[in-house]
Amino acid sequence: MRIGVLMGGRSLERDVSLRSGRRVSRALTELGHDVLDLDVDERLVPTLKEERLDLVYIALHGKFGEDGTVQELFEILDVPYTGPGVFSSAIGFNKALSKEIFQREGIPTPPFFVLSEATFQEMGALYSLGAVGDKLGFPLVVKPVAQGSALGVKVAATRDELPEAVRSALHYDDRVLLEKYVKGTEVAASILGNEYLEALPLVETVPRSGFFDFDSRYTPGLTEYYCPARLDDDASQRSVEAALHTHRALGCLNVSRVDIIVDETGVPQVLELNISPGMTETSLLPMAAETAGLDFNDLVKRLVGLAMEKYS
Ligand SMILES: Nc1ncnc2c1ncn2[C@@H]1O[C@H](COP(=O)(O)OP(=O)(O)O)[C@@H](O)[C@H]1O
Ligand SMILES: [Mg+2]
Repeated sequence: MRIGVLMGGRSLERDVSLRSGRRVSRALTELGHDVLDLDVDERLVPTLKEERLDLVYIALHGKFGEDGTVQELFEILDVPYTGPGVFSSAIGFNKALSKEIFQREGIPTPPFFVLSEATFQEMGALYSLGAVGDKLGFPLVVKPVAQGSALGVKVAATRDELPEAVRSALHYDDRVLLEKYVKGTEVAASILGNEYLEALPLVETVPRSGFFDFDSRYTPGLTEYYCPARLDDDASQRSVEAALHTHRALGCLNVSRVDIIVDETGVPQVLELNISPGMTETSLLPMAAETAGLDFNDLVKRLVGLAMEKYS
């Protein structure tokens, strides 16, 4: 097959995407495909029209790559692509809308509030932060509504730290999510499949310090990984069920990775769903696949097969 690998892009996660993309590109070449590396620029659409690719592997992360934007273009151009479609991407990249759906579906997710930049600039929302703290308690997690790789995520230990955490999140998006902090075991559940879904073994992440932030993710040695996760059977099973439910609720196809914290009572609290999980050397989906007996090339082969299945 002639396969394009779309990587890089202009989001803040460009470097991570290049790392994912180059690895995928190498795997596809080793699998015998004719591979064309693609980046995002004004020539993307003309190139796609000229090249007549059988498939594009989307290795973009973050805004425009993971939020339905590029997926919509592929729909318009009738170019088959990997991963979930426009709707799932748009919802998955928006943590506020995702959590609204989780709640309606009965999927446990930490209590939260969402405030837009306009409410601070035009309505004095700064003076509502005390009430947010009273309702959610401390510590409290502050994050941009639409962002990835933990960029802009801060834990506010006290009321005094809230305004600064909010300001910093607003550098990344014009909406900020304020969420109850969950103490527990963080795990990532990767799901593969279209109609029939397979949950890969859970990967537990234990950062040396603080939470699973950007540095903990991409600097080898700063996080300990356990796959399968060190959870009891009941908590594992509930986490997998919550992830499958989340994947279905957002109408995902092909693949997703659901980020979960199992709280101290054993309840899997779903934080978010990722439609373009990282494929770097330290990424969680390849780690889970490895434990399930799929090496990196097997995983890429599987993702290509699942993508083609949705067009047949
Ligand atoms: N409610 C929470 N309680 C405790 N830690 C959290 C919470 N929300 C996020 N975190 C930490 O912040 C990280 C990033 O949050 P997440 O919602 O997964 O966003 P991202 O899209 O940036 O990965 C998580 O991996 C976790 O370590
Ligand atoms: Mg996450």
